[in-house]
Amino acid sequence: MKTYKLAVAGGGSTYTPGIIRSLMDRLEDLPLSEIRFYDIDGERQSQVVVAAKAVIEEYTDKIKVIDTTDPQTAFDDVDFVFAQMRVGKYAMRELDEKIPLSHHVVGQETCGPGGLAYGLRTIFPMIELIDYVEKYAKETAWIVNYSNPASIVAEGVRKLRPNSRVLNICDMPVATMRNIAAILGVEREELEVDYFGLNHFGWFTSIKVEGQEKLPEIREHVYKYGLLTEDISKIDYRHADSSWIKTFKNIKLIMDHFPEYLPNPYLQYYLFPDYIVETSNKDYTRANEVMDGREKTLFETVKKYEETGILEDSFAVGVHGTFIVDVTVSLAQNLGKRYLVMVENNGTIPNLPADAMIEVPALITSDGPKPEFVGDIPYFYKAMIDQQLASEKILVEAIVEGSYEKALQAFTLNKTLPSAKVAKAVLDDLIEANKEYWPTLT
Ligand code: NAD
Ligand code: LMR
Repeated sequence: MKTYKLAVAGGGSTYTPGIIRSLMDRLEDLPLSEIRFYDIDGERQSQVVVAAKAVIEEYTDKIKVIDTTDPQTAFDDVDFVFAQMRVGKYAMRELDEKIPLSHHVVGQETCGPGGLAYGLRTIFPMIELIDYVEKYAKETAWIVNYSNPASIVAEGVRKLRPNSRVLNICDMPVATMRNIAAILGVEREELEVDYFGLNHFGWFTSIKVEGQEKLPEIREHVYKYGLLTEDISKIDYRHADSSWIKTFKNIKLIMDHFPEYLPNPYLQYYLFPDYIVETSNKDYTRANEVMDGREKTLFETVKKYEETGILEDSFAVGVHGTFIVDVTVSLAQNLGKRYLVMVENNGTIPNLPADAMIEVPALITSDGPKPEFVGDIPYFYKAMIDQQLASEKILVEAIVEGSYEKALQAFTLNKTLPSAKVAKAVLDDLIEANKEYWPTLT
């Protein structure tokens, strides 16, 4: 039987042990001979690899594990690369969130100025990764990318490495489907959905179970509970933190105003930026919640495991792990399964630009994603998407050209920023904070 070599770029990620568990659960579908962990922070990665190895040992002793900071050792002859890099790690995420909030503007990992800042840090490292993979890996190798901000990363890759084999994915649509399925009392796999948008900026337009439209039932449920089951313990660990519970409740706020479609939860930041800022704690953001939660637990678990040999956390990451493995199995086995992923538009939504990186249903084959035709979208959604797309595209131009003016245009166009004056103040503070990471903007 054919076996595969897989590398994880950003091996020091808090998600690594959970993704490894998802891979181990699917070894029959994706048999692996080697897993290579690659990170620029070797010390952090080595700790995480202790946990990853402990998970692998629960299943098999037949997989060779390599822990490296050397790109050739990591990518030589591999079939797949899972990318999950956080450029600047949590220290920079905290600043992405807190600097905008200090200006009374949304402070978020991927949305608003924080997302633009994270994009400015991530494009060139992502291109470097693609170049390493092209140099060392199999010609047929795919990079399956979770690294955020996915929309900006996807646009950067489209512009700078248009022929690369990168599939950009996000767990938010599938996590939204997890909640929908729990509300309807069905398995997530039973749902057939239609969806359009950009990453973290899209809408479910149809939700069917056995051919029956369930959007009206979901709408009624959301009016009462948001996108949560009455018993919230049914929501998996990945989204159980209080900030996520609040986010899923906020689906009610969005649908009270715009009931037509079910929104991606991240739309709260664009549609209700004032409310989000009012209800944010400027001193304790999502970065703090993760550092005090997922990240701390991971390193404490590793320490205890080294002392006692007992692994206290199962590291199950729910849909985050299963989704990346599902997509990769479909790529590897040419299954043509239908998932929501990012693709270049090219007429899928005729009234959006052909070169937009959109998120829509696509069949995942060994040659990559084949999007299903969506058709023209109504003007409200088109106008919102056009504005966000312009912000993201101009940001990528700013990165490539090193242009301050274009960066300011990108910030000004972002719907979370109220004026060019505020956009400039936030941008200037972020430039100061990102000196080590951003290209020089002149
Ligand atoms: P983390 O900070 O725990 O881990 C990221 C790792 O990336 C760190 O070990 C860091 O050293 C490494 N890294 C940074 N720059 C690198 C480079 N140039 N080359 C190689 N490694 C590099 O982050 P996390 O919270 O586990 O998240 C990992 C990534 O996954 C982030 O990009 C995050 O935004 C993304 N994410 C995406 C989704 C999604 O659905 N799209 C969901 C969750 C997380
Ligand atoms: C994270 O897992 O921290 C993010 O990448 C998404 C979130 O949960 O805020």
